[in-house]
Amino acid sequence: MSATQHTAPSGHEGADASQVYGRCFDAVVIGGGVIGLASAWQASKRGLAVAVVDPDPGHGASWAAAGMLAPVTEAHYGEEALLHLSLASARLWGAFAEELEADTGSDIGYRRCGTMLVAFDDDDRMAARQLYEFQLKLGLQVRWVSGREAREMEPNLAPGIRGALWAPNDHQVRTRHLVRALLDACQESEVAFVPERAVALEAPGGRLSAVRLASGIRLTCGAAVLAAGSWSRSVDGLPELAQVPLRPVKGVILRLAPAPLTASATPETEPPPLLTRTVRGMVQGSHVYLVPRADGSIVLGATSEERGFDTTVSVGALHDLIRLARRLVPGVTEMVLADATAGLRPATADNGPVIAAMGGDSGAEGLVLAFGHYRNGILLTPITASAVSAWLCGDPAPDEVSAFGPSRFCAPGSPGLPADGVR
Ligand code: GLY
Repeated sequence: MSATQHTAPSGHEGADASQVYGRCFDAVVIGGGVIGLASAWQASKRGLAVAVVDPDPGHGASWAAAGMLAPVTEAHYGEEALLHLSLASARLWGAFAEELEADTGSDIGYRRCGTMLVAFDDDDRMAARQLYEFQLKLGLQVRWVSGREAREMEPNLAPGIRGALWAPNDHQVRTRHLVRALLDACQESEVAFVPERAVALEAPGGRLSAVRLASGIRLTCGAAVLAAGSWSRSVDGLPELAQVPLRPVKGVILRLAPAPLTASATPETEPPPLLTRTVRGMVQGSHVYLVPRADGSIVLGATSEERGFDTTVSVGALHDLIRLARRLVPGVTEMVLADATAGLRPATADNGPVIAAMGGDSGAEGLVLAFGHYRNGILLTPITASAVSAWLCGDPAPDEVSAFGPSRFCAPGSPGLPADGVR
């Protein structure tokens, strides 16, 4: 995975080869994004010997993500099972953040700030109102606020906005702090980092026994976790059941820093942050979001581009994001462009993740699938890690994940398959 600009987290360059090769691991996790790292950390805390295989852990889609924990404002028509999974994971977030912060002594910026979905013009208002009615029917905690009330809550919103949906329980986390903390937590709990690419699974007799690396080395293991995001289909030896439709959807995200203070500024004259809550916008049918951090910076996202495994940042992407953000919050013009990053969301045919333990009839018993989290990887991290570590220890997983097995893509007429069922 690649990002256009990043700061390498130090101290996670990988284990000495002698610590890793020749050892037998209880579990080898393929993919060092938040899903893989959190699963490795929790499995290791439960006493398992775990390795994470990734050439550049922490620097894939997780590094680009904005960190919105937003089951309500990300709810889409026809995705009720995903909503239940998202709500269950959102409920785990507070304890997950507390445990990670306690284990690492770091602040991951979990912030209970709520989210406002703002309608820019009358058509946007109509679309937002329909979404609001749908959310009310689902029993979600939302409130409609007028344009005036929205501006009282966030005075830097544009004067003409037509109203907003207020979701008080959609929060945020500072993703890059989260990634660094998970890397630290894994290292603290003696997870081995293997800075290589996994190329194949070996399951002689239908039982997983090793993960083969690009260098040709085999890591022998009792179980493997496939958590390689958009690359999860690129490993050889996947059982047929695990070969679900999966594609990368590029998202470009910008990090904006507050304007530098003038020489005469004092703490008293320092301007307040531009926003205090996450603001998502519908702007003449297009979507944009602004996630304000406690230090006054803002994460502005995101494009949605179907360009395969391309992580370049185009001028058009920058222009579109800034144009939409200015219409909603004109003051962003004064901010400083600090960083532009592209990540690849791993999307399945129904936008839901694949979270499952492969059974004896799959041909790869001992393989756990944890990929395809699309727009919700950060939000779904606690529940996915909880399910994965439970399965690795032979325990039952949370009920909410049961709807996210790979077999949902196998039945004729299922998402991503033609009516005759041929892949
Ligand atoms: N969940 C935000 C995004 O996918 O851009």
